[in-house]
Amino acid sequence: MENKITKINTERKNIIAEYSSKKTKDTHIDTLAQEIKDLQYVIIKDIVEETPDAKSFILTPDSTKGTYELAPFTAGQYISIKMFVDDIYVTRAYSLSSSPTKTSKMYRITIKRVEGGLVSNIMLDEMKIGDTLTISRPIGDFGYNRIRDEKNIIAIAGGSGITPFMSMAYAILNKVYDANLTVFYSVRKEEDIIFKDEIKAINKKSKKVKFVITLTREEKEGYFSGHINKEMLEPYLKEFNTIFMCGPKTLYKTMNEILSEFNIPKKSVHYENFFVDYTPSEIQEYELKVILKNDFVLAKCKSNETLLVSMEKAGIKAPSMCRVGVCGYCKSILLEGKIKMIGSYLKEAEAENDYIHPCITYPESDIVLRLDI
Ligand code: FES
Repeated sequence: MENKITKINTERKNIIAEYSSKKTKDTHIDTLAQEIKDLQYVIIKDIVEETPDAKSFILTPDSTKGTYELAPFTAGQYISIKMFVDDIYVTRAYSLSSSPTKTSKMYRITIKRVEGGLVSNIMLDEMKIGDTLTISRPIGDFGYNRIRDEKNIIAIAGGSGITPFMSMAYAILNKVYDANLTVFYSVRKEEDIIFKDEIKAINKKSKKVKFVITLTREEKEGYFSGHINKEMLEPYLKEFNTIFMCGPKTLYKTMNEILSEFNIPKKSVHYENFFVDYTPSEIQEYELKVILKNDFVLAKCKSNETLLVSMEKAGIKAPSMCRVGVCGYCKSILLEGKIKMIGSYLKEAEAENDYIHPCITYPESDIVLRLDI
């Protein structure tokens, strides 16, 4: 979706003038109330090395900071870690991989190293048992919905995309809902299998949940070899199915081609989005003016960087959770400028009032943005 604001109305001009010229006094009570509702404080109770580049973190409530119980979640949801790195406020979303029935006492998240990744590498290299974290409440609607979905669930996972399906597997094993789940899990080598022992144990004891693992870069007994393909899927598909996918975008493309051969309707296929796919034709730098409740900040932004990232680099504690345009948490008003927004779940009224999601928005001119913080 593309937004272009060529004229700004008088009210907006007044807002810009007001915030550009003076600081206002505001209690921020609404912002505080929102934050308290959304934040949870946790302690890292345990760390499990799953593979050479992935670890699971067991998180328990940090009652010294007022979190006595963790918020319930549904299998497939994620939390967002919030931390300051060199004075820059950053957030990253991670799927919960534990059973939703254990909710109030613990969460498990599993993090795989990302080359050049900021938060993932801090979590893997620096965090230790006893450290504390600030996280969001669980969010997201990726998961089984008994009204919408068929009971024969086929899940397709690549790499760390296995995490929400582990939670779904436990939801079925613990009778949170009644469905059959087959998880096709693609990894490069046996050593890259996250939750290897748990998967083995589940495959042994459950008739309702089955994991089918394929190795793309080695051949080993007990596993398929090569990428997930039509022949692997065929025996598990029934007349009506629900498909879930979580992994890299190349996986989605290939799987969609295969699923179209089985005539699976699009409404039966659900994706977890972890990336924003956009490359501008050229890299340009622009001015970014961010108007806050009591202040404004002048910064730079670039055509190949989302406005959220530009704000974070400018030291603004911009709200965010999913970082892929789904949760709506980063919603801000575009007062001036031309942008490229890559997909959006904005409501019609919000879009008409020039709301945007900075996490999926790239600048195409100088920008004036208003944040409610
Ligand atoms: S952070 Fe979720 S929509 Fe932007």
